[in-house]
Amino acid sequence: MPLFSSPSSKCFWITLIVFSLSYYLLIAKSTTLQTSPPPPKPCNKNPYKQLNLVLNKNGSVRRGPVPPESPPAPDPNLPTKVLSKDLPINKSKGTWARIYLPRETLDQNSKLPLLVFFHGGGFIFLSASSTIFHEFCFNMANDVVAVVASIEYRLAPEHRLPAAYEDAVEALHWIKTNQEEDDWLRYYADLSNVFLVGSSAGGNIAYNAGLRLVATGSGYDLGIPKIQGLILIQPYFGGTQMTGSEMRLANEPHLSLCNNYALWELSLPVGADRDHEYCNPTVGDGPKKIEMIRRLGWRVLVTGCGGDPLVDRQMELVKVMEMKGVKVVGHFRAGDYHGVQDTDPFKAKQLYEVVKNFISAFPS
Ligand SMILES: *[C@@H]1O[C@H](CO)[C@@H](O)[C@H](O)[C@H]1NC(C)=O
Ligand SMILES: *[C@@H]1O[C@H](CO)[C@@H](O)[C@H](O)[C@H]1NC(C)=O
Repeated sequence: MPLFSSPSSKCFWITLIVFSLSYYLLIAKSTTLQTSPPPPKPCNKNPYKQLNLVLNKNGSVRRGPVPPESPPAPDPNLPTKVLSKDLPINKSKGTWARIYLPRETLDQNSKLPLLVFFHGGGFIFLSASSTIFHEFCFNMANDVVAVVASIEYRLAPEHRLPAAYEDAVEALHWIKTNQEEDDWLRYYADLSNVFLVGSSAGGNIAYNAGLRLVATGSGYDLGIPKIQGLILIQPYFGGTQMTGSEMRLANEPHLSLCNNYALWELSLPVGADRDHEYCNPTVGDGPKKIEMIRRLGWRVLVTGCGGDPLVDRQMELVKVMEMKGVKVVGHFRAGDYHGVQDTDPFKAKQLYEVVKNFISAFPS
């Protein structure tokens, strides 16, 4: 029987073809929807609203309600696994350190590695006393078995970068000059085995403070405290070119692209774009500075996860470091989200294990 032999069968075939075609298009469309994410929402003119920030005319901001904070617990008679206390660094800047000491160390005559920690919060928010970071450092000291010094640094936009880096460098100087005056630092912290540690914006601070310490002019003589390396937990970096993961996760609620851009806008020096060296470690002198890290023999741990918009940049940094011969370990896992270790104790515990293995893999 020839095709289209009668008007009714012609109609049947045309209908069938049209149906199959639209069905095919529908499938194709839904497949596309499944594999590619919705395009980034355009950022509205006032992204600060989402961040609960009100911009004042003089460049300061009014922040939303202060998130929960925790006091230190310095009393050795308290039934706690880790003791903690606050020590002032520079009163005129309002900087200080919260030191954590695993209790069992009090009965032993051994010194522990010192982890100098910088908290996250987009350079704008939170404090070393914020409960999430207090608990993170408490548990890190306990699980890694280390002394932790969590540094309170000045926040943007009242104090834009490099203020936080300056405070971090000052904190290292302070440790050097005050170790004799503080029993915990003096007896229990091994100042020849120090790591700069930070999560998110704190990872950026650990990185940039480390570079400042080794750059000439910081006045830091690379003696004691002797830095062995950097531990960058989901470090916060950026750039003007969008990465694949930033595009893919542009609407990720834990760190949307709009909030990400707004945080940089308030933190970087006025007028700087995201290809500033503070934000993008692979532009300008960045690669040269990475070579300095290799020459010093510092070891670097970078951790991240596939659900974090920043993951492509973090992996790129690891790649550049590998190319430059830095002793770098990249630890990336699938899923999760930016800041997962601050809200999920199980994920935090896994991270402490990674940190502990990294520190003890090459004893100083
Ligand atoms: C900036 O303005 C805010 C609100 O008007 C005010 O509370 C704050 O003290 C000012 N800061 C400075 C440094 O003048
Ligand atoms: C504290 O900071 C101020 C301002 O940067 C600086 O002038 C001063 O020397 C610092 N004080 C100490 C004790 O380091």
